[in-house]
Amino acid sequence: TATFCEYKPGLEGIPATKSSISFVDGQKGILEYRGIAIEELTKQGSFLETAYLLIWGKLPSEQQLKEFQNDILYHRRIKYRIRDMMKCCPETAHPMDALQTSAAALGLFYARRALDDPEYIRKAVVRILAKIPTMVAAFHQMRRGNDAITPNDNLDYAANFLYMLTEREPHPLEAQIFDVCLTLHAEHTINASTFSAMVTASTLTDPYAVVASAVGTLAGPLHGGANEEVLLMLENIDSLENVEPFVQNLIANKQKIMGFGHRVYKVKDPRARILQGLAEKLFDQTGHDRYYEMAVELERIIEGKLGQKGIYPNVDFYSGLVYRKLGIPSDLFTPIFAIARVAGWLAHWKEQLAVNRIFRPTQIYTGEHNAPYIPMEER
Ligand code: SDX
Repeated sequence: TATFCEYKPGLEGIPATKSSISFVDGQKGILEYRGIAIEELTKQGSFLETAYLLIWGKLPSEQQLKEFQNDILYHRRIKYRIRDMMKCCPETAHPMDALQTSAAALGLFYARRALDDPEYIRKAVVRILAKIPTMVAAFHQMRRGNDAITPNDNLDYAANFLYMLTEREPHPLEAQIFDVCLTLHAEHTINASTFSAMVTASTLTDPYAVVASAVGTLAGPLHGGANEEVLLMLENIDSLENVEPFVQNLIANKQKIMGFGHRVYKVKDPRARILQGLAEKLFDQTGHDRYYEMAVELERIIEGKLGQKGIYPNVDFYSGLVYRKLGIPSDLFTPIFAIARVAGWLAHWKEQLAVNRIFRPTQIYTGEHNAPYIPMEER
């Protein structure tokens, strides 16, 4: 029999690949994209520059970034046939289900079995990065009975998404903060949705199917859906005085607290730190938010009770407060996570093509052998 390495539920701590895309130190709270600290990238870069860095492996020159931005700008529109297909999505569908369907629909129009053609790879990267935000915004308009809003070529990536979503051009600070949020969510080593993307990529299917797999995985409340749950939790708590009893109750019922805990980070997620700073900056400009005070109190109380277990805020804890202040409906928080994480999924898709080995793990069999086929009348 094959010699097994030790089985760990959820493959905890088991390497699934070698990768040079990003690095996390869960004890020190470090996150680096291609070796650059996330704090550096969010201070001076942009989401598209970060996407280029993750996917192509190095920071773009000014010319390369300009071409990449123009490419993305040119491909932001979605064809009328995809928009018509999206009109069949029920208004009540969760935007993540609509996104998974429309991401797969891109494959109907653009997938070709041409993974050995660098131009096909480049075009697929550009089309997916460019069209996913447009499809998220289009579904939101359609579920309200409107037509999709055509991308505004005078606006950059982040500002244009907010424009297509809210029908108004965002304040530069709002667009800048949203752009940083996208960078913060762009990549995070081998999380569940990226692992899905890798497994799908390893069969040499097309990149559109890879993204559709990853979107379906991110939709789960234990992964991407937590930021939406955090706001619901804060609305439930509703006042500072209720925070302590609410936490007591969750812990007594051994319930997971949304926005807290992480498979790797055993200290506060560095992304949560940066998002908290953005929240404070935004609230200074646009007015105080009582939920933010409750969130800070929640963090203080939970650190006291679960800090020794390594339970601290993760990326989902403060992101929802920022998005809500930007006028984004809470059921679009996870689609926004997907818009950003497409960069990481595409980076790992390309990296797996170079590995060129289909994922096919083994198992520890716990069933029977030589079992009889029992005739129907005897069952
Ligand atoms: C993301 O992987 C990634 O990188 C993901 C992500 C990314 O960028 O892709 O960082 C984004 O998904 C952030 C996580 C968003 N999800 C949530 O906020 C949902 C709540 N969090 C938990 O479900 C949990 O913390 C996970 C899923 C994030 C991690 O789960 P693990 O690693 O499987 O941890 P575990 O369930 O084994 O917990 C270890 C212990 C347990 O206690 P014991 O049973 O050993 O006594 O910690 C406890 C858990 O009960 N615990 C929590 C908790 N998370 C873990 N207790 C209370 N509240 C929590 N949130």
